[in-house]
Amino acid sequence: MSMQIGIGFLGAGTVGGTLIRRLIFESDAIVAKTGLQLVVEGIAVRDVRKARGFDLPPELLTDRPQRVVDNPNVQIVVEVMGGLDPAGPLVRRALESGKAVVTANKELMAAMGSELLGAAESAGVSLLFEAAVGGGIPIIRPLSESLAGERISSVLGIVNGTTNYILTEMVENGASYEDVLAEAQQLGYAEADPTADVGGADAASKAAILASLAFGMWVDGDQVPREGIDGIEAVDFHYAKQLGYTPKLLAIAEDAPEGIAVRVHPTLVPLDHPLASVRGATNAVYVSGPSIGELLFTGPGAGGEPTATALLGDLITSARERLARTQVSSRIRFGRGRLMNPADMTTKGFLRMTVVDRPGVLARIAAVFGKHQVSIKSVWQEGRADEATLLIVTHESREGDLQATAADLGRLDVVSEVGTVLRVHSDEP
Ligand code: NAP
Ligand code: HSE
Repeated sequence: MSMQIGIGFLGAGTVGGTLIRRLIFESDAIVAKTGLQLVVEGIAVRDVRKARGFDLPPELLTDRPQRVVDNPNVQIVVEVMGGLDPAGPLVRRALESGKAVVTANKELMAAMGSELLGAAESAGVSLLFEAAVGGGIPIIRPLSESLAGERISSVLGIVNGTTNYILTEMVENGASYEDVLAEAQQLGYAEADPTADVGGADAASKAAILASLAFGMWVDGDQVPREGIDGIEAVDFHYAKQLGYTPKLLAIAEDAPEGIAVRVHPTLVPLDHPLASVRGATNAVYVSGPSIGELLFTGPGAGGEPTATALLGDLITSARERLARTQVSSRIRFGRGRLMNPADMTTKGFLRMTVVDRPGVLARIAAVFGKHQVSIKSVWQEGRADEATLLIVTHESREGDLQATAADLGRLDVVSEVGTVLRVHSDEP
């Protein structure tokens, strides 16, 4: 015998449309595996006339999302419309009226997660968000349940599929940024506004969520310093390779003695590091702790199908909780803690600059590094007539000191341009 649960959708785009199609056309398989009949009772979209690639009973569609939330047959709301408004008020309304919510919206969770999880707990319902980070990779539940007892020291990795796809295509195939971004949009990887991907905001939301779960202290998305891949120039790919690195957009969250350090930035990774071979829209997240050592979670990080699988898992958990009249999955506690000042975070740096090629120049440049206590690890120079490209990789230093060094170098009369400042991730000292 199967148990029936009514599901309402806020959104039916790349992710929502894929899940709706699976709930409708694969319902027998879901019933056979779980005993649950997940019945789509309503779907809110912006344009009810838009073609969705498969037939939908027109009576299910509405352009008034509140109708889905208020539909008495809907017991679980799936929020896949994206953004903060109207998604936030709709999710709050659903929770306050006793409905469970499943969402893929990392922007919403990073901005309002603490408040919405509180609303879920007060109402005794669950708010699940496995699909918000890492697409099809289970990472939220491992962090909040399986690893709840571990003293996690760091979470680090590639959490944005679009930018990893773009970087892979540009580095390996010399594709143009514009062409490959358009491809990522077509493949359903990118956000509705892809500047959230390329500018680092999407990865920053995910970093905030991961840090909150890992360290038990709520981190808002807008507290995470971020740089995107939009500042990297094609010439940097060439020079990075020359030095044995490849660029990746990394989200890094660490439990440091001075506080929790969270940030997102393009980072040069050694070509022989496992993250260097994470290609396309694949995501990969390392979780480290004293008892577990290092765990690696990797898999498809974006796209309709993998994300729908993560949502479906949450939907099944939520439906089971409802039928058992229990709710355990939203009971995450967030205590107080200190976020580290971005300038105090430490990093290894890579600086590319164009310099005048004459005696004494290197000494003047080295003096600037020395003044800011930034130790140089390696120097590589390529000369052209009276100018040269100089690449400098540093040892670990304060972010603030690295930036001050770059700013001072830019003021030297022998430096015509400080082209790029990137961070370097390597296990070497
Ligand atoms: P999408 O393709 O743009 O779909 C958004 C859906 O929401 C569309 O059906 C749209 O209606 C509907 N919608 C938007 N605003 C609405 C409003 N004000 N009222 C009613 N309907 C509204 O986006 P998506 O790629 O599926 O992403 C959805 C969410 O999942 C986002 O939070 C995203 O960050 C997250 N996510 C996406 C991926 C991915 O790989 N794409 C992976 C993980 C998480 P119309 O169809 O009529 O325009
Ligand atoms: N736009 C996001 C990405 C979707 O490219 O990673 C998955 O969260």
